[in-house]
Amino acid sequence: MTLSTIFVIDDEQSIRDGISLSLAPVYRVLPFSTAEDALSSLREEPPDLILLDIGLPGMDGIGALQEIRRTHPDVLVIMITAYDDVQTVVQAMKLGAYDYVVKPILMDSLEISIAHALESARLRKEVQRLQKRYLQENLPCFIAESNAIQDIMDFIQRVAKSPDTPVLILGETGTGKELIAGAIHYQSPNFLGPLVTVNCAAIPRDLIESELFGYERGAFSGAGTAGKRGLIEEAQNGTLFLDEVGDLSMEAQAKLMRFLEEGEFYRLGSTKRQQVKTRIVSATNKNLFDMIEQGLFRRDLYFRLGVVTVTVPSLNERTEDILPLARHFFVHFNKKFGRDFTGISPEAEEALLAHHWTGNVRELKNLVERAVLTGRGPELLPGDLGLPARAGTAFAGLRLPPVPACGVNFPALMREFERHYIEQALTLSCGNESKAARLLNMNHHTFRYRRRKCSEE
Ligand SMILES: Nc1ncnc2c1ncn2[C@@H]1O[C@H](COP(=O)(O)OP(=O)(O)OP(=O)(O)O)[C@@H](O)[C@H]1O
Ligand SMILES: [Mg+2]
Repeated sequence: MTLSTIFVIDDEQSIRDGISLSLAPVYRVLPFSTAEDALSSLREEPPDLILLDIGLPGMDGIGALQEIRRTHPDVLVIMITAYDDVQTVVQAMKLGAYDYVVKPILMDSLEISIAHALESARLRKEVQRLQKRYLQENLPCFIAESNAIQDIMDFIQRVAKSPDTPVLILGETGTGKELIAGAIHYQSPNFLGPLVTVNCAAIPRDLIESELFGYERGAFSGAGTAGKRGLIEEAQNGTLFLDEVGDLSMEAQAKLMRFLEEGEFYRLGSTKRQQVKTRIVSATNKNLFDMIEQGLFRRDLYFRLGVVTVTVPSLNERTEDILPLARHFFVHFNKKFGRDFTGISPEAEEALLAHHWTGNVRELKNLVERAVLTGRGPELLPGDLGLPARAGTAFAGLRLPPVPACGVNFPALMREFERHYIEQALTLSCGNESKAARLLNMNHHTFRYRRRKCSEE
């Protein structure tokens, strides 16, 4: 077993020697007489723990502690201090020191403190390891075969790391917005904190404010005698997921805006300010731009919620995901319902690919669930899915040129095709995106996404 490494930083040789001698058989101890020397070694080989004297020549213990916390937040620090140094000890603890020992040092209590500190570091590492395992075991359930979804997963992995940044997730119904909100939470440093989900559409409008912000006793008739913490408070040090955020009343939007700006709010009927740290992730399948135009959604709130915005493409524009998703749901339901289907037939797969998915992944999941439950087997057939064996083609009646002997640049042709229709639709609708999207039988999110892609290419 490798020994834990401990830096001892103290300008008194007798203390350095005494500690080194007592700890040496159990730990690897490296003594330093100045903070500067220790910090340069820290950069090369960080120890597990640092014993740090407060009164040092040159950079003092508090300065060194700040530097260590900034560059190596995982390294635990125990301060060594004189009796009359209470103020400084308090300051050190506020800056994140793990513990302190008072001179003259009692080796027994120092050893206990070191053992606790190392155990706490070990537990922290174990939690990180379990988090990684949890993510590895659970995120594969999030099927991400297409580049579009893989890009989104890469992006949110980076965004998740900063636990205060609000994220707004846009996309049609059933595209996986709630799953993405969960992925953001579980990949954030606050993943051990709560993930509180509020479905803003499911809570009556006159109750949403008290649900979100809580209330004092007697704040309104029916408020009860005890008062209540709001969901924002419940989400302290975690994530508050505001699902269907487009359904928030204007009053709730105003309060939420204030909370986002200042990190504080008042419970209903209270004059006491509450301060809460939580990340707000919100999602909607509504067109917030249209709602802003109609005066139903605050423009400033839109920008505040969407410091980072993720637009999830519809299933129809990431057809690479259809079959992996269908197979994933098939395996899941086959096992859940104790069925012994051998697989999805090629005809059924063809039908799945040809279908237009207005309900996106949710529709696909429901279809496969029902098919596995009611099909006869041994394979899933188009009929089990309620889909026609041969889907009609959108090109029926349209004569397309044959493939020339020299071949075609298919990806370029597809881009040209897409650009042509998007431009035509925009011209016909005088630049109005919502109208243009309707002309192409597309959701506005899809239209916006494709238009942006075309202009980037
Ligand atoms: N990439 C995916 N991999 C696996 N399952 C998925 C994926 N995307 C969505 N699902 C599943 O599809 C269903 C719908 O997803 P979800 O509830 O996240 O959609 P949504 O975008 O929040 O929809 P709505 O706008 O209607 O609230 C869920 O059961 C979810 O588990
Ligand atoms: Mg949802």
